Amino acid sequence: AAAPCKDHVLSTPLKNDRFLRALRREPVDHTPVWLMRQAGRYLPEYRASRAQAGSFLAMAKNPDLACEVTLQPLRRFPLDAAILFSDILTIPDAMGLELYFVDGEGPKFRKPVRDAAAIAKLGVPDMETELRYVMDAVRVIRRELDGSVPLIGFSGSPWTLACYMVEGGGSKNFARIKAMALNDPQALHALLSVNTDAVIAYLAAQRAAGAQALQVFDTWGGVLSPAMYREFSLPYLQRIARELERGEGVDRTPLILFGKGTAAYLEELAATGTDGVGVDWMVGLDEAARRTGGRVALQGNLDPCVLYGNPDAIRREVATVLDAYRDGNGGSRDGHVFNLGHGMSPDMDPEHVAVLVDAVHTHSAR
Ligand code: CP3
Repeated sequence: AAAPCKDHVLSTPLKNDRFLRALRREPVDHTPVWLMRQAGRYLPEYRASRAQAGSFLAMAKNPDLACEVTLQPLRRFPLDAAILFSDILTIPDAMGLELYFVDGEGPKFRKPVRDAAAIAKLGVPDMETELRYVMDAVRVIRRELDGSVPLIGFSGSPWTLACYMVEGGGSKNFARIKAMALNDPQALHALLSVNTDAVIAYLAAQRAAGAQALQVFDTWGGVLSPAMYREFSLPYLQRIARELERGEGVDRTPLILFGKGTAAYLEELAATGTDGVGVDWMVGLDEAARRTGGRVALQGNLDPCVLYGNPDAIRREVATVLDAYRDGNGGSRDGHVFNLGHGMSPDMDPEHVAVLVDAVHTHSAR
């Protein structure tokens, strides 16, 4: 069992705080960078840990193994943040939907929720019992990071979690959940409401365990029409940004709302009260910075497929993203966290990641 997080662990000063400074839009020596899915199958040491554990879930449910794979990318690359190794689907799993993985098919639930009766039975899981393994992982990782870089905790958005819960896994067209939105919107709102309560409790518990920033992944926000996005996703993100207690000043735990295909709503996302907005590569960061006007930090937004290019192409594309942000932000690079516009893929070359991280730090040096 993991040791409780000691006060001295939580009060160890950070050696590298440029990620947190950038989220506060404070000046930094160079633009911080981390990568969505920076821990994963593209690393041979990850594949070895996974083989040893037997499965992804066994690894995620063991705090020491989760810690090990969280640290793997940081041993290779001078990244400016660590992200908890876990998954967004831990919440519905703890609600009783029974998460499992089929190789090559992605996540699935044995007990998806398909109607109002099933939804009415759902409750917010207890964070320190049913999701204890996640909080223990946060505590172990904070101890092992020893103040080197900040630790990001995360959750899925209420809508994105609902997609998996209703579809029972991944989906091409989201037929079941869209039918529910049309035929029984009240049931879907009940599901989104319990999910929101769970997400807020989950992020608050990760913060209490030691997470120093929090990101919400609205991976499937972009599959909705504008009217449906504004009914079924945005209001719940607003509630999270409003109700999640996260402190003030230098002790504030910043929140980042990442959406895929949701650039049309940048102004509305920036107005939620979030600290940062994560942006995919379908919008220029110059435009994104102009439209959000310094109200939030921006995170993104290199097309992950740039990692399939050669080192010269990677350096060129990294510079383009960095300069686009600066141009839209009145000539300043402050308030930018460099990232991909979505997660890495298993067939990407670790050598190319090294080039990307170096290019960010070199090109953005103040
Ligand atoms: O970013 C990180 O390094 C932290 C870990 C992390 C994972 N999943 C590990 C993981 C994070 C932040 C997630 C979030 C997540 N999980 C999202 C939102 C982000 C996004 O990519 O849009 C979603 C939609 C999920 C659901 C999920 N979990 C899927 C679709 C899959 C299958 C992916 C695949 O390619 O098979 C998972 C499993 C998963 N989660 C893996 C990892 C490293 C692969 C598991 C394996 O080793 O087989």
